[in-house]
Amino acid sequence: MKKAQESIFVCTNCGNEFNKWNGQCGMCKEWNTLKEIQNSKVKNKSGSRIHSGERKEIKKLSEIKVIGGNNDNIFSSNISEYDRVLGKGIVRGSVVLFAGEPGIGKSTLLTQLVGEVGGLYVAGEESAEQINLRVHRLGLNPERFDILETNSVEEIGDVLGRVNNVYKIVVVDSIQTMLVESTVTGSGTLGAFGSVNQIRESTFRLVELAKRTGVAIFVVGHVTKEGDIAGPKLLEHMVDTVLYFEGEKNGDLRILRVSKNRFGPTDEVGVFKMEEKGLREIKSEEINLISGKEAKVGSAVTIVMEGTRPMMVEIQVLVTESFAPMPTRVFSGIDNNRGRLLVAVAQKVMSMPLYKYDVYVSVTGGIRLDDTGCDLAIMAGMYSSYKDKALKEGAVFVGEVSLLGEVKKVKGWEKREKEAKAMGRNLATIYSIRDLKNLV
Ligand code: TYD
Ligand code: MG
Repeated sequence: MKKAQESIFVCTNCGNEFNKWNGQCGMCKEWNTLKEIQNSKVKNKSGSRIHSGERKEIKKLSEIKVIGGNNDNIFSSNISEYDRVLGKGIVRGSVVLFAGEPGIGKSTLLTQLVGEVGGLYVAGEESAEQINLRVHRLGLNPERFDILETNSVEEIGDVLGRVNNVYKIVVVDSIQTMLVESTVTGSGTLGAFGSVNQIRESTFRLVELAKRTGVAIFVVGHVTKEGDIAGPKLLEHMVDTVLYFEGEKNGDLRILRVSKNRFGPTDEVGVFKMEEKGLREIKSEEINLISGKEAKVGSAVTIVMEGTRPMMVEIQVLVTESFAPMPTRVFSGIDNNRGRLLVAVAQKVMSMPLYKYDVYVSVTGGIRLDDTGCDLAIMAGMYSSYKDKALKEGAVFVGEVSLLGEVKKVKGWEKREKEAKAMGRNLATIYSIRDLKNLV
């Protein structure tokens, strides 16, 4: 049998593994993303994954318990937005990767989770005092928390081995501050904190630990804006569930998205608001982010789908004469390329001379819209600001705008229509952006 390679190359962008180094990743086509790492399948001399030496029994599938089949393997987080995102609740023995940019509120939400169900908080970044401060600030019951200050995955294993079945959940905050001690004190080949090797090996060990002990482990992973080295992308295929916690840091709205889930759907999202006392769940009724109904210049209302729920948001656009050689384009909350494309379509189809105007677009509530259904609202806002006239009162703009300026229906149309009605408004029926002229 061919001997397994000592080291392999892993793409830090998509997480795929290769036997040979290459300047470009063969899967995701990114450049300079392959990093050499120790092949943990060879390295692992404790040998749990490869050949344990004991005889493996073949199992009958029909005799294996269905996870969540009778629900005794799933328990509620007592935070309904959280349960919804996960499917039914927290699955015993599962590993959840909780990813997001630094400062977005990962520690806050996971502290609240432990406050609800009780568990062990492994502090790799903060001191026990800092966590205690947060627990008090959030008004949570300190009795529910055990704190372990460590950066060692082995120590977590030791603790869980000692206190069999005491914890339902363990939070590891964060994976970037964890390492497998034996690999450092031994040959030292796996590198320091935060290296691709350490992050992968630590995650492997945590997954094993979760499966062995049945405790659900929540692993915090920081993502940098650049999706930089050792981003959670590397870990996605190892864990059961991947959650992304998103939002604009200066806004107070936070969205919990699920990008992978072995135990449930991936189209649900949880919506939270960052407040004085931590993250508060936002219920369907209050999900709409608009208060008044009066029409304002440069403001257009749209309804986006967050998971399976419609949510009404306001898009504000400022179109103002430019005195710079290159007009400014600032798009916050929408994709840059999408924004540029819509400006180009407006220029061509609506004959708006935007080449001599600065264009600023922002989404209220500081959320990010990936939904092309909000194209029409951006377009409407642009036109309104350019004309310095408010759009028709009570109109809601939903539709994808094509390169030719046609307006297309998007998924979830009926739900959005219903939501608009419920809010005492109506979807604008427009087939081309030229018709916007009739709505100012
Ligand atoms: P944190 O959970 O520490 O972020 P992460 O773990 O993702 O890096 O949250 C950081 C921000 O949240 C911090 O800037 C302050 C804010 N915050 C509140 O607004 N209210 C609160 O009750 C708490 C605990 C934090
Ligand atoms: Mg944190």
